[in-house]
Order: sequence, then C-alpha cells, then structure tokens
Amino acid sequence: MSKKTVADLSASDLSGKRVLVRVDFNVPLDNGSITDDTRIRAALPTIQDLTSKGAKVILTSHFGRPKGIDESLRLTPVAARLSELLGKAVIKCDDCIGEEVAQAVAEMQNGDVALLENVRFYAEEEDNDPEFAKKLASVADLYVNDAFGTAHRAHASTEGVTHYLPSVAGYLIEKELQFLQGAIEEPKRPLAAIVGGSKVSSKIGVIEALLDKCDKLLLGGGMIFTFYKARGLNVGKSLVEDDKLELARELEAKAKEKGVTFLLPTDVIIADNFAADANAETVSINDIPDGWMGLDIGPDSIKVFQEALGDCKTVIWNGPMGVFEFEKFAAGTKAIALTLADLTKTGTITIIGGGDSVAAVEQLNLGEQMSHISTGGGASLELLEGKVLPGIAALNDK
Ligand code: 3PG
Repeated sequence: MSKKTVADLSASDLSGKRVLVRVDFNVPLDNGSITDDTRIRAALPTIQDLTSKGAKVILTSHFGRPKGIDESLRLTPVAARLSELLGKAVIKCDDCIGEEVAQAVAEMQNGDVALLENVRFYAEEEDNDPEFAKKLASVADLYVNDAFGTAHRAHASTEGVTHYLPSVAGYLIEKELQFLQGAIEEPKRPLAAIVGGSKVSSKIGVIEALLDKCDKLLLGGGMIFTFYKARGLNVGKSLVEDDKLELARELEAKAKEKGVTFLLPTDVIIADNFAADANAETVSINDIPDGWMGLDIGPDSIKVFQEALGDCKTVIWNGPMGVFEFEKFAAGTKAIALTLADLTKTGTITIIGGGDSVAAVEQLNLGEQMSHISTGGGASLELLEGKVLPGIAALNDK
C-alpha cells in the first residue's frame, strides 16, 4: 500500500517508544458480556508486533455513541477480554486524556499494553477538535491507526492526531485495503458483486461504483421490490421506496449499457406479515399477490445465482438476501454464504463487507471459510463506493 505501515518500523524504531494505537473495539455487548470479539482479535497482530519490538502500546477506541460519560459504555470488559487474548495484564485507564493517563504512561515498561477509556466520552472527539487531538497525542511518540471500522470518520483520534505525530497504518487496515481495494482495483475476473439489504437508498453509491468495476451484479434483499415495481410488476405490500423507482430504472439501464450481467431474483418467499411465524409461500416474481410481502429470495433464484457465481474468480458480498433473523426467511442468505464458502475452496477470492452480511456469515460459522471478512460496516461500504477514508488518507506516505 502507498501508506507507511508498522511493517516499515524496526525494533530500533520502536523499542522504548510510546505508541498511540487507534483500534476499533466497538464490539457488541449483552449484559456486560462481549458477544463477538472479532474486532479485538483482529487488532492482535499489530499490538503483538509492537510489543515484541519493545514499544509501549497505548490503545484508544470509541465504544457506542455516548453523549458524555456513560457507565454502560466503559471499555472495562474489553480490557479484560484483550488481556485474556494477549495472555498478559492490560493497564486500564479511566480516562483517555489528562493527568491519570500521563501518569500511567510514565510508569509503562517496554512491551506493556494500556487501554484508554472510551474516547467518545468527550464530544471533542467527534468534532475533531485540534486541542483535544493534541492532548491525545501528547502521551505518545508515534501514532498507528488500525481502526479500519472507524476509518471513514474524521475524528480527533482517527484524523486529528496525525497532525501531531508521525502516523502509520496497522496490519488490519493494510489487510482490509489489500482485499477490498484490491478486489475493485485489480480484480481477478470475472468479478461478481452481490448486494442485498433492505433499501436501495443506502446502497445507491455502492451499486453505482460497482457497476463500473464488476462483470456481474446480483441483487437480493428488500431493495429488489423497488426494482420490480420500477419494471411494472405487482409487489403486494413488500418494502418499496417509491421515490427511487426512476433511480432503479437508471441503474438497470446503466448495467445494460456497460455490459454488466444484472441479475434480480426470479422467485421470492412471501409472507402474510412481517413476523418469524408468518405464513410463507414461494412464488414467481410475476405472481406476488396483494397483501403479501417478499422476505427472501426463492429456490429458483438461488440456483440462478449459484450458476452465475460458478465461474467467478472474485466475489464481493454486501447485504443479506432476506430477513435471515427469521428462520423461515433465512434460506437465501444461508445458500449464498454456503456457495461462497465452496467457491473459496476452489480458489475464488470471497470478500464479505458490511455489518449484516458479516453477521449472517458468522452466525452460520462460515467466517473461517471466506477469503476475507471485513471488520468495517460503514467503512467497507464507503471504500467500495470509491470514497476516500479520512483516517487512512491522513497517514504518512511510504
Ligand atoms: C462501526 O461499528 O461501524 C464502527 O465502530 C463505527 O461506529 P460509528 O458508526 O458509531 O462511528
């Protein structure tokens, strides 16, 4: 990558140095317990590389979206989990700036790891306040950004600090860029993109950008009904964005113009209401009755999608095919996840970007079977849209 990374730093650059590392430890919590520690594990290569080279590692992260200090959003459970994963004690500070932090850092030995308190307890973080950024930077000699999930935010701990410290990328950011950017800039072809999710409006940018890059575009999820309605089909009471009908027509026309294979499901699973125990039926997309809503793609669509994906060398997937949280409407998402796992085995590069499709793959225990699962929701979407991520742009060039 064009940015300097921790791999460019030797033990002599790092030994005894205080390194402020921005990580994304914004993990799901249920009753005080971490339900998915993927993001913590994803930060380990950078932390362990730095400690093995004798650095003093000062970790900073946000957690949730607090307005001021919120006791339920302290990073204490994260420090405990990190300590287990590292197999060593992690110093936990109750603040992220100020005297307590300065004191704790002054007492750190080479190879120690400290975790600062939730940086969003200060409104100045999201305001990217320069004075606040300066305070964060004041305890360190060097800055490493490894918070890919937050790289699309220009906040004090992701962008502001880079104005005060030499700044490089961590291994997680490097890996995310290698897969996500690599897949769209220099893909092994054919390149297929599968885009799902409930609304076209939240995926316009990514669909438009991918139409310029991919050979095949497969759509699923609630957004397909806007495309069907735009084609003049009856969609019953399925989710539709009426103000996006013209856009749907334009996107389909653009795909044709660019020679991109544009696939919408051929059949859907419909429900008489939005509920896990709703009555369900499979119908052709030409036969959706009034009063019913589509909640998943059907078996024929799965076959068509599997055939289309069969010869692809790279597949990017963002967004589930149906309401996979309800067992009755999870088959489409499951089938796509299993298909991608099989394709990975035969050498296809499979990339899962975006929160919901990642959750689906993890729920099916197929995470290990994909080439890459992004730790970023919004960040991976913005990267695929071709946007500049401020947390990465601000880092030093090689
Ligand atoms: C995420 O969970 O997507 C990241 O941690 C960013 O969180 P945010 O949307 O609250 O900035």
